[in-house]
Amino acid sequence: SEPIQSICCIGAGYVGGPTCAVLAWKCPNICVTIVDISQERIDAWNSDELPIFEPGLEEIVKSRRGKNLFFSTDIDAAIIAADLVFVSVNTPTKTRGVGAGYAADLQYVEAATRRIALLSTKSKIIVEKSTVPCRTAESMRAILDATSPRPGVHFDILSNPEFLAEGTAVQDLLKPDRILIGALNTKSGKLAQDRLANVYATWVERSAIITTGLWSSELTKLAANALLAQRISSISSLAAICEKTGAEIDEVARGCGKDSRLGPHFLKAGLGFGGSCFQKDIFNLIYLAETFSLQPVADYWRQVLVMNEWTKASFSRTIIRHMFSTVSNKKIALLGFAFKKDTGDTRESPAISIARDLLVEGAEVYIYDPKVSERNMRQCLGAFSNFHFSSSVEAAALNASAVVVATDWDEFKPSSSSGKTAAAIDWTSIYANMNRPAFVFDGRGILDTAALQNIGFKVHTVGRGNLVDTLS
Ligand code: NAD
Ligand code: UDX
Repeated sequence: SEPIQSICCIGAGYVGGPTCAVLAWKCPNICVTIVDISQERIDAWNSDELPIFEPGLEEIVKSRRGKNLFFSTDIDAAIIAADLVFVSVNTPTKTRGVGAGYAADLQYVEAATRRIALLSTKSKIIVEKSTVPCRTAESMRAILDATSPRPGVHFDILSNPEFLAEGTAVQDLLKPDRILIGALNTKSGKLAQDRLANVYATWVERSAIITTGLWSSELTKLAANALLAQRISSISSLAAICEKTGAEIDEVARGCGKDSRLGPHFLKAGLGFGGSCFQKDIFNLIYLAETFSLQPVADYWRQVLVMNEWTKASFSRTIIRHMFSTVSNKKIALLGFAFKKDTGDTRESPAISIARDLLVEGAEVYIYDPKVSERNMRQCLGAFSNFHFSSSVEAAALNASAVVVATDWDEFKPSSSSGKTAAAIDWTSIYANMNRPAFVFDGRGILDTAALQNIGFKVHTVGRGNLVDTLS
């Protein structure tokens, strides 16, 4: 089959940017153009300060930019030139109309599809990279067939969902667990599937490239995210039992994770899951189930979200309860605002809920995050704008009554566990400058509880009953 020479990626976001930058790096013979309607985003991709932070990404972008990797707002030119187009636009949850709060908003996918149909003068492979509801390719097919004006121009649609996680995107892309390519079981579909598989085979082992049917591929993405999120809700539910019983969640997770059928990953209890994907994709699955009147199925997955909301709310309540049921006018340092370490992304970050809960109670919340700007925090907190931005842990904690850890950044961890040489937080000096009693609420289970208690802190760690123990 003919090799792909020119790729256009529509959507220069958290997925389109890293995915196609790595592709350009690994395939120097393919010309990759990443386009977006946002001039600001494209300008940032073309500048020294990339619009997203991902370890290792900057080097890759800088090594290929201007050679076989381009960022542009000239969407039309890139579509016309491409043999293959990745559709990597956002698919957020609908906020109004039919399915509001559950269904995926497919307006950006449709707009991109229409543009491709309108402009294409040669046949192309169209790849769903965005996470979409099952059978979206069918709608794309209908749009392409109805709007493409040129005879002889043929489109193949593939589903190639992205499984990267933020913070480890480059590593995930370089060494993916699997690449999934779904196609219709037709001669032309199979050929298109082969051509995309050959691109990935440049750097991914053939055995990790899975080809499936189109609908299975679309659903696999929703399924994988739902199963991962379910695991977090399961561990959160067990952490809650630990806090009441004196069991410790990390010990329980280790004991369970040794069972090869369960596996050790994704069992770290914290503040539930954040990020732009899990909640959205479960809503998507619930909507799909309800569309087919599968109410118990919808209810089952809804409970994963209920558990997640409860986890965050319960942590806020624990903070308030331990601080003598009032945080009014008390200074509280919130460490971490990103939804996980090694990213500046704050979408659906648990830290937003915690900050809001404390601000509503009248606390003076000082927020520090190594990668999140004050502007981004203000956007997330909206009406709750009466927080303070801090540029260091020490500044946030000065004269505070409590320190709350909301993100698992390595720099918050004791140096022995972070594996980094950078100085760990000097908790003794933090303690010296705090009000008494000085509380630490570890929402990510990353601190050395015993060491902090030795210094004099009152410590509560998720999934451990330690503060309850010391109080009772
Ligand atoms: P994002 O919001 O960061 O990026 C999407 C980009 O598409 C935006 O910059 C937007 O301006 C652009 N866009 C929208 N419509 C366009 C159009 N018609 N033409 C050109 N550009 C257009 O979103 P993201 O996080 O990159 O996610 C993209 C998709 O990938 C979603 O479906 C998401 O569910 C899925 N996904 C995301 C992740 C993740 O970790 N963020 C992982 C796997 C899959
Ligand atoms: C997720 C999926 O992992 C990825 O495959 C998919 O492509 C996009 O959605 P992402 O949301 O970027 O990736 O990060 P992930 O590492 O999955 O973490 C999601 C949330 O769960 C974070 O808030 C994280 O802190 C939390 N988490 C994860 C835990 O609390 N404990 C864990 O053990 C793992």
